[in-house]
Amino acid sequence: MAMKKYKYQLLLVCISVTLVLQAAVVVGSKPPKDKHCKADKPGDDGYLSHCAGTIKCPESCPDCHLSCKFCGMAHCPKCDKVGSVCQDPRFIGGDGQIFYFHGYKDSDFCLVSDKGLHINAHFIGKRTANRTRDFTWVQALGILFDTHKFYVGSKRVGKWDSSVDQFVLYFDGYSISLPSGEGSKWVSPNREISIVRVENANYLNVEITGLLNSSIGIVPVTKEDSRVHKYEITDADCFAHLELNFDFFKLTDSVSGVLGQSYAPSFVNPVKKGVPMPLMGGEKKFMASSIFTPDCEAAQFKAIHHSSIVDTGLGRNSKRLGMPSAVCSSNGGKGSGFVCKR
Ligand SMILES: *[C@@H]1O[C@H](CO)[C@@H](O)[C@H](O)[C@H]1NC(C)=O
Ligand SMILES: *[C@@H]1O[C@H](CO)[C@@H](O)[C@H](O)[C@H]1NC(C)=O
Repeated sequence: MAMKKYKYQLLLVCISVTLVLQAAVVVGSKPPKDKHCKADKPGDDGYLSHCAGTIKCPESCPDCHLSCKFCGMAHCPKCDKVGSVCQDPRFIGGDGQIFYFHGYKDSDFCLVSDKGLHINAHFIGKRTANRTRDFTWVQALGILFDTHKFYVGSKRVGKWDSSVDQFVLYFDGYSISLPSGEGSKWVSPNREISIVRVENANYLNVEITGLLNSSIGIVPVTKEDSRVHKYEITDADCFAHLELNFDFFKLTDSVSGVLGQSYAPSFVNPVKKGVPMPLMGGEKKFMASSIFTPDCEAAQFKAIHHSSIVDTGLGRNSKRLGMPSAVCSSNGGKGSGFVCKR
């Protein structure tokens, strides 16, 4: 009898210890963000939402951007994942190693160069007094694939206002006008590339069929960043720059470029590990002469028409627009593809 009572006490102690531990875990980690949506009622953004009830960020991205329109996560900031290029530029290579590549302001560098894909980045920046190097940020990308050219960049911005979209987009020389508002979408005439707004302004998902998927944001250098790193940013220019994350679907073993090289199986990362700012050198090897010129020393790209992309016959000047017209419309006859809105 006495033994039995003792067992109960032990059980109670175990239960309460478990409860305390659970409480500690809950207090320690922030719960995933959530948001309430009302079906068919316009939200803060003026758009109808398509779901009712509470939506929640997944555990894998507790601080995600939630959208009633998408009925869930619309966007997850990915600066801490493989394939990212953020800040002043800080990279996370295909091998998982963090590194910095400073380059020079007002110059272009090969980020990725492979046989069927080439990505140049335009660096902006400034040199403050008594510094031996430029502070730099990625302001634009020039992406070459097949015989196509895609440009995505930020306008120059004085004072930052997150509600004002700053994207500049071109496909094969035509300006793309992507309507504002989450979910608005543009698809190229032959569907090689699709662009979706994942927030009302300044965040896109860009997919190039069979080659890459990317999340592309525009962010300013904040007053706080400027204070901590002594960038001396003023209200005249907040150095709005891109925040990037890439998923590559089809790189070859000979891929190169500042970021690309880290995906090559034979790559041995030269950066010093365990230091606060592991630096990747190679300015000379990776420098290109313009945003769309694949002419850095490390370049691998050949502009050829790959048969893998099926020609749907919806060419630039085609009048046989078999597109779902309720969803998409041709872009004012300017030939730059179709503007689609959900
Ligand atoms: C730069 O160096 C000069 C000479 O050493 C010094 O007088 C000046 O105050 C420095 N400027 C800044 C912004 O540190
Ligand atoms: C590309 O990324 C978006 C956003 O994460 C995702 O919804 C989509 O399914 C991805 N596409 C492919 C082909 O992986």
